[in-house]
Amino acid sequence: MSTSGKVAIITGGAKGIGLACAQRLAKDGAKIIIADIEENEGKQACADLVEQGHEAKFIPCNVGKKLNVRNMVAAAVDQFGRIDILVNNAGIIAGGDFLEISEKDFDRVIKVNLKGAFLVGQAVARQMVKQIEAEKANEKAANESTDEHEAPKHEAGVIINMSSVNAVLAIPTQVPYTVSKGGVNQLTKVMALSLAPHGIRVNAVGPGSIMTDILKAVANDKAANDRIMSRTPMGRIGDPSEIASIVAFLASKNASYITGQTIYADGGRLPLNYTVPVE
Ligand SMILES: NC(=O)c1ccc[n+]([C@@H]2O[C@H](COP(=O)([O-])OP(=O)(O)OC[C@H]3O[C@@H](n4cnc5c(N)ncnc54)[C@H](O)[C@@H]3O)[C@@H](O)[C@H]2O)c1
Repeated sequence: MSTSGKVAIITGGAKGIGLACAQRLAKDGAKIIIADIEENEGKQACADLVEQGHEAKFIPCNVGKKLNVRNMVAAAVDQFGRIDILVNNAGIIAGGDFLEISEKDFDRVIKVNLKGAFLVGQAVARQMVKQIEAEKANEKAANESTDEHEAPKHEAGVIINMSSVNAVLAIPTQVPYTVSKGGVNQLTKVMALSLAPHGIRVNAVGPGSIMTDILKAVANDKAANDRIMSRTPMGRIGDPSEIASIVAFLASKNASYITGQTIYADGGRLPLNYTVPVE
């Protein structure tokens, strides 16, 4: 599936990694829906894309709220007629030791990072299935000999979930975040299996430390920065565009036989395994 002319929803696309994904997919020719709780930044991001000659629309949406999600998906279809790509990227953190973390913070993170990915993923997948079924019915009407059980000739859609190295690496002070991203990896697999018969591919991207607002604060703290570098063999923090390029690959026909995978981009953190000194 080429991304040119495709319609892509990016949740949490108002800034950071999501914004980089929106910019990259727009550059590759996709029409962009940014779905975010941050109205001002989301609208500005879309205005910038439109000024650069792309098609983009901001739709307010809290991914943890089912009605919000349903309305956002309906508004996206109203705007561009269909949905081809979903980047389930919205995410938050809440630090705290396991003995201290509150139920409220645990629920808050799970609701956005895991339940949000499920709610948006399900709503968008339903729309994608509707689209491919309509296309198949049209093809069948045009050619009576088409076997209705035949696998779809065209891809029905692509979903990319934003995971993290913390799906597999635990940080003791990031309890709900670590749990939520582990869940995102399993959600990715179960969605991939469930949606493969419909022609929808589902994969995840697992970033390491990427320079967004959260990391900018940390990067200014020398001790924290040294800690990150000690576990990053490539010796630098990643740029959001380096995650967006993987999303663009997974969304494209170059990844047409990949589903159910998480691709990590972490400067070598996961293979580290004590082969470089950890301070
Ligand atoms: N930055 C990193 O180092 C890093 C590493 C691994 C994984 N990630 C993941 O990448 C994704 C993006 O992270 P980021 O660093 O760009 O964060 P960010 O804080 O810069 O951006 C997150 C975006 O999500 C939006 N958002 C938050 N809650 C929302 C909700 N309920 N509904 C809709 N939108 C909501 C925010 O408004 C914001 O625009 C997250 O899923 C995060 O877990 C980031």
